[in-house]
Amino acid sequence: MISQNTIQQILSRIDVVEIVGSYVKLKKRGANYLGLCPFHNEKSPSFTVSPSKEIYKCFGCGKSGNSISFLMDLEKYSYVEALRWLANKYNVEIEETELSPEQKIQQQSADSLYIINSFAQKFFSDYLFNTEEGKNIGLSYLEHRGFTEATIKKFQIGYNPEARDVFATAATHAQYNQELLLKTGLVTVRDERLVDNYRGRVIFPIHNQSGKVLGFGARVLKTTDKAPKYINTPENEIYVKSKILYGSYFARQAIDKADECLLVEGYTDVVSLHQAGIENVVASGGTSLTPDQLRLVKKYTDNLTIIYDGDSAGIKAALRGMDLAFEAGLNVKLVLIPDNEDPDSYVNKVGADEFREFIAANKKDFILFQLSVSLKDAGTDSAKKAALVNQVAETISKINKAEDFTKQQDYIQQCSEILKIEESGLHTLVNKFIREKITKEEGRINREQAADDLAASTAPVDDEALLLFNKDELNERAMVRALLEFGIKQWDETITVAEHVFAEIRDWNLEEMIDNKKLISLINNYRALYDEGAVPTPKTFLYNDDLEVSALVVSLMDDQYELSPNWKEVFEGKINTREDLYKEEVFSTVNYLKLRKIKRMMDENQRDLEKFHTPEEQLTLLQVHQHLKKTEIELTKQLGTVIFR
Ligand code: GTP
Ligand code: MN
Repeated sequence: MISQNTIQQILSRIDVVEIVGSYVKLKKRGANYLGLCPFHNEKSPSFTVSPSKEIYKCFGCGKSGNSISFLMDLEKYSYVEALRWLANKYNVEIEETELSPEQKIQQQSADSLYIINSFAQKFFSDYLFNTEEGKNIGLSYLEHRGFTEATIKKFQIGYNPEARDVFATAATHAQYNQELLLKTGLVTVRDERLVDNYRGRVIFPIHNQSGKVLGFGARVLKTTDKAPKYINTPENEIYVKSKILYGSYFARQAIDKADECLLVEGYTDVVSLHQAGIENVVASGGTSLTPDQLRLVKKYTDNLTIIYDGDSAGIKAALRGMDLAFEAGLNVKLVLIPDNEDPDSYVNKVGADEFREFIAANKKDFILFQLSVSLKDAGTDSAKKAALVNQVAETISKINKAEDFTKQQDYIQQCSEILKIEESGLHTLVNKFIREKITKEEGRINREQAADDLAASTAPVDDEALLLFNKDELNERAMVRALLEFGIKQWDETITVAEHVFAEIRDWNLEEMIDNKKLISLINNYRALYDEGAVPTPKTFLYNDDLEVSALVVSLMDDQYELSPNWKEVFEGKINTREDLYKEEVFSTVNYLKLRKIKRMMDENQRDLEKFHTPEEQLTLLQVHQHLKKTEIELTKQLGTVIFR
């Protein structure tokens, strides 16, 4: 783990304008910078960077965050990778720290799994090349399939002998821990003994992005067996199927160079194509692509070409989840291999050149293909067809790589032709989906802005309806924001704003009124730091390694705060900033919570009144009611009249 000290050094040097500016051309506009959003296509700039708040926000697509999340989003770095990138940029030397006990166990366990896998890979390779059984059975099979020795060695393919426990015995002799061995899936327990799980199979190691072995695919040799054709490593600390694309380690550079990633179904397809010199190829294992796998592809290229055999069940799987690919901005093409061949057998049959030509000549547009397949499926069922039209319209609406409008128009035209419906009808439907999407996004942005307007406490919000949408949560957010921003200012001669707020929260037990648990945890984090004598500011939390916390702080802070026009009128001449009015802001946001609390207590009291019937009980409850009512009136009055000087 990177030490806190190093992180602090990195954070103190971060310049959001410089970092974003190395990807986006920024122009100064007032206190902020403006540019074209790198996360969606736009012609006029709506991407703002605020150097003082150290955040960015796009008013077009709603993306916002800090320097670190920017790198994570754009470069697909992990949090730690982003820190390392920044450390490198700013010449900060990285100091590693001790891990927490749980992290250590997790890390050790992952390390051990890698070590065992590496041992196993070597064992299987050795067995393949250096034993009679390996050569006669494993190697002859692989050679029969056309794999050269160089290819077998490059992909580190191996063989697990047929006897019940040859590998298990070797691993036990090498002192590997039984529990971990079981986790790798290489062995299993039978009759209280460890036995090999992949007996008599050829073994395809699966590598991570840096070439370490994550797990294995083990193929039977005799297809007559009832046994499954492949056995894969079970999910464990390092083998997470949804994040793995077989072959990606060997394909990275070729993908980058070709600016295209070929996706096939099987291990052998990858290996054969690679051997034929087509190296930009990975395999999904025949399941539908997951968001993590798409991200992996997107790291290297925007162009994904799926190559499947014509009647594979895998196509159906690939069809699912493709909306995600469009949303990710990938251009997806499809090539079907004819005549019951798969890429492996086909490239072996026709050779590399013809294979390449075939791919180039037969790339189909994925959306149109998907449509014709589903249309065939739907047959004459008109309900199914209607659903299909909707689905197509939604998919088209998601083409946001806006190269663009024309592309969208083309799709509408071609799809309506295939569907035999009127073009204008499909057009309307697509627009409906686009509108829904925009409304959703705008709603989100506006709600955040409304929160900030409310945070100005005195600023009446223009759109009452908007406020109604989620007034309570907006207020909670505004209160926490005020705490983060103004906590260390003085509330009066004796206490700070933070102390005041904490006292109010305690005295009124306001925590139970805050619905958003993340806000509560932010408050508690603040309190912990404050009690330690730290001086917390929003930036203290902005780069929190808990990304939920940092995202929350960004969303609390990312407003374009403008003083409401009404406010300017009230204070004619003198323009107040939020800084000037911080006490009002703190006061009114806390007060609002108190009011909610009173209202809730009154409701409860009312319910009790309906339940309890002795005169004494009723009298007490009525007195409580009167007391609450009085408090409510007071609080309401204060809200309108208290002016801090
Ligand atoms: P060959 O038949 O040797 O050419 O293998 P292949 O890799 O082409 O296999 P196939 O086209 O039958 O299947 C494609 C991919 O689906 C395989 O590479 C595996 O990832 C996966 N797969 C196929 N059969 C099984 C199975 O029985 N179990 C599991 N877990 N995966 C399988
Ligand atoms: Mn095959």
